[in-house]
Amino acid sequence: MTDKTTQFDRRNFLKATGLVGSLALTSTAGCLGGDEEAMTLVAGTAPGFPPFEMKEGETLKGFDIDLLEAVVEETEYELSEWSEFEFGSLSPALQNEKIDVIAAAMTIRADRDENIDFTDPYYDANQAILVASESGFTPATMSDLDGANVGAQKGTTGESTVETQLIEENLVAEGDYSSYGNYVLAVEDLVNGNIDAVVLDTPVADSFVADREVQVAFTYETGEQYGFAIREGASELQSTLNDGLATVKENGTYDDIVAQWFK
Ligand code: ARG
Repeated sequence: MTDKTTQFDRRNFLKATGLVGSLALTSTAGCLGGDEEAMTLVAGTAPGFPPFEMKEGETLKGFDIDLLEAVVEETEYELSEWSEFEFGSLSPALQNEKIDVIAAAMTIRADRDENIDFTDPYYDANQAILVASESGFTPATMSDLDGANVGAQKGTTGESTVETQLIEENLVAEGDYSSYGNYVLAVEDLVNGNIDAVVLDTPVADSFVADREVQVAFTYETGEQYGFAIREGASELQSTLNDGLATVKENGTYDDIVAQWFK
């Protein structure tokens, strides 16, 4: 039994004893029918992005997991399950109703907003250029990456940064860019000397620096903000999650979760 199961059991116990939100008991309709009345939510994420979402053995954990669970706990909804995808498959899974909400350190972007909707922002980030500590490679600007082999996770803003700031600027050849299924694999290749730099979100770069032989060479300001994503037009769920987020920010729960995952 995983930690997650234990938490659900605790929540169900609280609900059964009437200690929390009575509304949750009024509907047990599944979420997959697109039914506005559905009260259970399936959450999707893409582990391998510490400290936001990662696997420890079979257990899924991280900032996003704790935050979304705390937010949903403030609402009449219930989280029934966490489903794992590669990052680029999350938005299609949301649109195909395989999941109802994405909690994956997903940056709120206008191009994404065309197909899915976002809650209010819950975390800020920029891009970091990560290098292997032992490599002696110490770029300080994008121009210093001229001719380098770089990596990023498929479908991310790290990948867009590589495309717009390195490939389109003719600093890095298309063939010298490696797109990975997740950043754990990219950082492994970096440490093994297969690539020269990895472009990724600053808080995640800091997390890799803490326990791998890598360092941040420089940061590139993108002013990103993460939001939970929901289906386009799911405005009731959107405002409910926004209210829940506001509550956990006000009551200190948000700060507790930050303190737990960012040390
Ligand atoms: N914030 C970046 C983006 O939205 C990267 C997110 C990657 N998330 C993950 N769980 N792997 O593109």
